[in-house]
Amino acid sequence: MKKKQNITQEFTMSAEQTLKAVRGSFIDFTRVVENPVGIAPALRFIEDGLLLIRHGKIEWFGEWEAGKQQIPAAVRVRDYRGKLVVPGFVDTHIHYPQSEMVGAYGEQLLDWLNKYTFPAERRYEDLEYAREMSAFFIKQLLRNGTTTALVFGSVHPQSVDALFEAASQINMRLIAGKVMMDRNAPEYLLDDPQRSYEESKALIARWHKKQRLLYAITPRFAPTSSPEQMAMAQRLREEYPDTWFQTHLSENKDEIAWVKALYPEHDGYLDVYHQYGLTGQRCVFAHCVHLEENEWDRLSETGSSIAFCPTSNLYLGSGLFNLPKAWHKKVKVGMGTDIGAGTTFNMLQTLNEAYKVGQLQGYPLSAYEAFYLATLGGARALGLDDLIGNLTSGKEADFVVLDPISTPLQQLRYDNSVTLFDKLFVMMTLGDDRAIYRTYVDGRVAYERA
Ligand code: GUN
Ligand code: ZN
Repeated sequence: MKKKQNITQEFTMSAEQTLKAVRGSFIDFTRVVENPVGIAPALRFIEDGLLLIRHGKIEWFGEWEAGKQQIPAAVRVRDYRGKLVVPGFVDTHIHYPQSEMVGAYGEQLLDWLNKYTFPAERRYEDLEYAREMSAFFIKQLLRNGTTTALVFGSVHPQSVDALFEAASQINMRLIAGKVMMDRNAPEYLLDDPQRSYEESKALIARWHKKQRLLYAITPRFAPTSSPEQMAMAQRLREEYPDTWFQTHLSENKDEIAWVKALYPEHDGYLDVYHQYGLTGQRCVFAHCVHLEENEWDRLSETGSSIAFCPTSNLYLGSGLFNLPKAWHKKVKVGMGTDIGAGTTFNMLQTLNEAYKVGQLQGYPLSAYEAFYLATLGGARALGLDDLIGNLTSGKEADFVVLDPISTPLQQLRYDNSVTLFDKLFVMMTLGDDRAIYRTYVDGRVAYERA
């Protein structure tokens, strides 16, 4: 009898210990939408809410008053009233081996790659360096509220090992891949078709679907892959149809002309990827600034996604991404920081720049649309909206606690904001990493502002 009691006690104890309760104001979007007019109706704002988490998953989410009786006495409530809790940000395009070269002066894409990017990526041959930078990179994501990213490594497979090792330590939901490139770059950064196939294959075997990690087949872009290497990317995708695919597309006019010269038998830039079977669900194309009409249609028909990278597109002078056209063509879009051509890891600042890109085209991006793109929309673009992107019970517990008044100017402006829309909009206009108060990954605090 005594023994039985102990077991019951132990069970109750561990059940309590594994339960976490978070109180605060919450915003998320309850469903994926096909049209921006659907975003505001999908918004869920709970001013005094409760989030219950167990084993890294959201167990219950709703009004504090409706849920508080479920909290066992022994569970301490994390009280974030006065702050705003949102789903973790999703960065759909970023290069981890470019962290050390953000803000390189003066060049547009092709010269920028040769002058700054390739030499920076060379350093990732060294596993110890890659480990050091992986730790830095993951910390940067977290201090900016990003809990999931689709990441380019360097050509060196060990760069991806180092990144996955670091992400696995906090059980992060992360997708990454080794760059495949076998031409039009310095010799020291080239692989070859067979080697890129084998190295990618080995990385898939080691990491894909291990914990929450996923693999993306990653030819850098059409100019740096021979037709033979493209065929290897296709072979990988056919052998591992549940992996992801990421690359660049139609970022810069000189780049597009170059692709047309290198692949004259193809009907434009996207057609190169398409003919090698590299379009479809879980295929993410960064930039897409200068798409032709048939390319928009093909992205849509194949269910491919776009990473909208406003800070990068402005910084490299690439051009203005046409977001309303993507909605019109029903192409999935997520936000990308595109470090190191992008100038910030911070999603709020990325949304701020997205707003300006919209303004230059007569499309004043709403705060709701912006937060949708940074959370559930991004998750949808990555094909992960069944796992992350909002606070619905059963989803993975990745979320951010935002501080709406992290600077005196924000305080002033916040005091002069009336509506929820206003408050969110000011957050994305003035907010940066100081606005990130806590970042939770897998139900645990992974970053805490000092
Ligand atoms: N196109 C090919 N490689 C790159 C890269 O590293 N950054 C950007 N922005 N565009 C690319
Ligand atoms: Zn990029």
